[in-house]
Amino acid sequence: MSFLRLAFSFNSRLKCPLKGAGQTMPNGNYQNLPKDLPDGLPDPFYRDGQLYDAINSHLLADVDFYLDEAARIGGPILEIACGTGRITIPMAKTGVAVVGIDISAAMLTEARRKARGEKLSIEWIQTDAIEFHLGRKFKFIFMAYNSLQHLLSLESLESFFSCVREHLAANGTFILDVINPNIGDLSQGRQRYRAMDLIDPQSGMPATIEEAIHYDVARQVNRVKWFYSLANGKVNREDQLNMRCFFPQELEALVKYNGFELSDKFGNFNREPFVGSSPKQILVLRAAKGKKSK
Ligand SMILES: C[S@@+](CC[C@H](N)C(=O)[O-])C[C@H]1O[C@@H](n2cnc3c(N)ncnc32)[C@H](O)[C@@H]1O
Repeated sequence: MSFLRLAFSFNSRLKCPLKGAGQTMPNGNYQNLPKDLPDGLPDPFYRDGQLYDAINSHLLADVDFYLDEAARIGGPILEIACGTGRITIPMAKTGVAVVGIDISAAMLTEARRKARGEKLSIEWIQTDAIEFHLGRKFKFIFMAYNSLQHLLSLESLESFFSCVREHLAANGTFILDVINPNIGDLSQGRQRYRAMDLIDPQSGMPATIEEAIHYDVARQVNRVKWFYSLANGKVNREDQLNMRCFFPQELEALVKYNGFELSDKFGNFNREPFVGSSPKQILVLRAAKGKKSK
């Protein structure tokens, strides 16, 4: 199965084919980021917010899901790894107070540009999810669209969960969603193949993404190489995307031993119960009683 499908297609309501936004913006860069990020983060894949949106902004099922949760739980809300604000922005439009944090300057540049266009006042903060201290609590915290899979090591995950506990209000809710890994697909890997055709948002030209996938069994990391090329041959770019895989029982153990109780677990954004063949693991969590944040 295509990794694009694996990573990006589980929001099943595809509404429109990819269209170029046609606007020109300089690519962001990672100059201001911490130097010692674990295992090669941040992925260079997240250096162009407009390209990210060209690939992903037609996805809606998770947006609806998180908006429903926000309406049910209320604010203030924190989205961790908010990217270009694909979910943050429609959430803020409902009038609730939302803060978005992300490690990528380029993704946040695009988020800010879109929020300004909508005249929304959203607080965007560039920071690493494994080490942030905002000095306030949130009723609802979420980390959408497989973003947890960018935290590759146990140390990163422990530090991340500790930060979430520190920011979660009493009786607050934390929701995350990740892929439910398919062992058959993982073990096969993929040689370089054509994964997607799209319109390049900067030039308006047809573009192609090819990908090759290698699953690192020992580290449970899917290493995906993307080859991005324009039809005129002028751009040929290679990106690497690292996605840690979480197996269902492992994920439940991780959250439990990091101070969370499971309130609900869904297998897709229609809230169907999680089963072996579910595309997603959507965990609705509360801080475990008796666990104090640091
Ligand atoms: C799949 S995108 C999700 C973006 C957005 N939540 C959405 O649903 O479209 C993953 C995001 O995680 C961010 N990210 C990766 N590692 C991070 C880290 N250590 N701390 C904060 N953000 C991180 C990337 O910059 C990227 O914006």
